[in-house]
Amino acid sequence: MSDSLWPSTGFGAMLALMSDLTGTYAHPPVLGVDWSEWTALNASIGGQLRLSTPFELPCFASFEGHALPPDSAACAAVQANYTDAPFRVAQFGAAMNAQWETCQSTGAKCLLDDANPSSPAAYQDQNCDIGNIAPLHIDVRAAEHVQAAYEFSSKHGVRLSVKNTGHDYAGRSSGHNTLGLWVSTLNKDLMAFSDAFVPEQCDGSHKAITIGAGVKMEDMYAFADKHNVTAIGGYHRTVATGYFLGGGHSVLSTVYGLGADRVVQIKVVTPDGKYRTVNKCQDSDLFWALRGGGGSAFGVVTELTVTVEPQLTIQAAVVAFPPSPSTLTAWYKLMADNALEWSNAGWGIHLVPGSFVAVNPRLDNAAASKAMQGAVDLANAQGGTAVVDELPSFYEFFTKYVVATENPVGPEVLPSSRLLSNSLFATESGKASLLAAIAQVPSALPIVIVASNPNPALFAYEEGSTSFTPAWRDSAWHFLIGAGFAYNSTLADRQQMYTLASQLMQPFRELTPGSGAYFNEADVYEPNHEQSFWGSNYAKLAEVKKKYDPNHIMDCWQCVGWKGASDPLFTCYVQV
Ligand SMILES: Cc1cc2nc3c(=O)[nH]c(=O)nc-3n(C[C@H](O)[C@H](O)[C@H](O)COP(=O)(O)OP(=O)(O)OC[C@H]3O[C@@H](n4cnc5c(N)ncnc54)[C@H](O)[C@@H]3O)c2cc1C
Ligand SMILES: *[C@@H]1O[C@H](CO)[C@@H](O)[C@H](O)[C@H]1NC(C)=O
Ligand SMILES: *[C@@H]1O[C@H](CO)[C@@H](O)[C@H](O)[C@H]1NC(C)=O
Ligand SMILES: *[C@@H]1O[C@H](CO)[C@@H](O)[C@H](O)[C@H]1NC(C)=O
Ligand SMILES: *[C@@H]1O[C@H](CO)[C@@H](O)[C@H](O)[C@H]1NC(C)=O
Repeated sequence: MSDSLWPSTGFGAMLALMSDLTGTYAHPPVLGVDWSEWTALNASIGGQLRLSTPFELPCFASFEGHALPPDSAACAAVQANYTDAPFRVAQFGAAMNAQWETCQSTGAKCLLDDANPSSPAAYQDQNCDIGNIAPLHIDVRAAEHVQAAYEFSSKHGVRLSVKNTGHDYAGRSSGHNTLGLWVSTLNKDLMAFSDAFVPEQCDGSHKAITIGAGVKMEDMYAFADKHNVTAIGGYHRTVATGYFLGGGHSVLSTVYGLGADRVVQIKVVTPDGKYRTVNKCQDSDLFWALRGGGGSAFGVVTELTVTVEPQLTIQAAVVAFPPSPSTLTAWYKLMADNALEWSNAGWGIHLVPGSFVAVNPRLDNAAASKAMQGAVDLANAQGGTAVVDELPSFYEFFTKYVVATENPVGPEVLPSSRLLSNSLFATESGKASLLAAIAQVPSALPIVIVASNPNPALFAYEEGSTSFTPAWRDSAWHFLIGAGFAYNSTLADRQQMYTLASQLMQPFRELTPGSGAYFNEADVYEPNHEQSFWGSNYAKLAEVKKKYDPNHIMDCWQCVGWKGASDPLFTCYVQV
């Protein structure tokens, strides 16, 4: 397969041709495949094949080197909504972390300035480049569309990528020179509640909801609330399927497990073209792999069913104070000293320097206030604010404390992270080493601590039922550092930042030998990623990959079966 005509020269030319409706032109091949083949594919999938463009394109006067008139009204809408998650989710040519729209190794891009989206410096006299966005995509509405894509891929050697909401921190939902499968509207209205859901061919029933691939967290939560139950999911409105496939932590995970723990059935189109319903009684090896194996490595999921909990009364301690170096030292010490006790009491905490939100579904308000008194006192002594709020449901908590305080998306964010083992918190010397390592993190880089890892004393999981690293169950903290660079970074800036993010995590890796990291929120260049993301589960995961995707139709960055950074699929990743 040759990709020489695309996107470097073919794309802009083709767009110009497409806008000429006489239809008499011979289209150039796309991704090395005759246009007639694409037309046939399009016809076979009910006309769901789409040309992709970066969503910033309306601001630019040139695309792929070809003049194209800007559209100032459309540009103004993009500028006004540049950091809005639902706006980005609705566009194929957008990613939450904008660097994944771009070809980071070459610098080819089509970005606005996320710090000031109205700044014309980003787009005036600049060319808009397709970058790392899949140049063509299928707006997938049915399993048959995925089957057609697999067949097309096998026949023509065109590589595939799968995009849902575009949250992936390692760019797995972008795909330079791939045919994209966009699943963001696939079954987006499918939400079904069952008091007694029985997985096919299985015994035993679950109180559960079934959600389509395109269902976002905010819709799932609202739906569950309407049925007077609680769905366990992520701390953001628009995260979708990839959350469950990679693990999925919730602020309720301490008591109710990870997202993947709660999946009881999945419908998936595997690369052999079969549309399967998998659970612990049917294709149980694949079902297990999908519960934590991560990304699109095993196929395209059309829907999944997750167990729900009763409506819960939530205690939320919301504490904030102006951080200074000395109070932060005391703050982290308080957090580390209480980590195991708080986990055992069922707290789930999102913590950043100078504030946290701590959630508990088991305590009453008096007990919750007592448990959090130390944190409240520390904040109050600094002139901060602190409440221990009781909410009648998780949905009310989510609306009041998550949606209302959601970070903007759009900046070029890159995390690195480590699951910090319980044993580190069990001794004074362990805690002292941890606090010393935290003190070394440059204050310009945000630290995020997610202290809501599934606690086996509270959440009775079935041994061997999931494939994410077992380290999750023995780690009080999922510890993250967030680095970033500017929209107009140089290649050297990017290399330096990825390298720095990776290096800054090294002391935490050394403090926790044998532990791991969270697939969905990891260092993009995670060292020894197979051990890190999956631990003792990796060998079996690799077997499952071989069985269901022997020809590597569904590869993605640091996914199961990854062949390495030299795969041409990854030419837009920078070398570090
Ligand atoms: C702002 C923000 C907040 C977040 N909050 C949380 C949180 O609270 N808890 C948490 O655990 N994680 C969180 N994450 C991380 C999140 O879980 C991952 O980014 C995850 O990959 C998102 O999945 P997605 O489907 O929404 O996104 P996408 O980027 O579209 O997809 C992610 C991966 O899943 C694959 N994929 C998606 N849908 C399908 C499908 N139907 N079939 C097959 N493969 C599919 C994609 O190919 C890709 O590999 C957050 C991320 C961001 C950016
Ligand atoms: C696919 O077909 C539909 C319906 O005819 C059409 O609107 C769309 O533009 C076609 N896609 C491409 C990439 O030509
Ligand atoms: C985007 O921004 C404009 C202007 O502020 C606003 O009117 C519009 O509702 C926003 N959302 C979408 C989806 O365009
Ligand atoms: C909702 O669920 C709660 C907890 O199970 C129960 O106490 C309450 O009666 C239910 N409300 C309705 C309207 O069914
Ligand atoms: C990037 O953009 C900022 C803001 O417009 C500008 O100040 C800076 O000089 C630019 N940097 C480069 C390398 O072009």
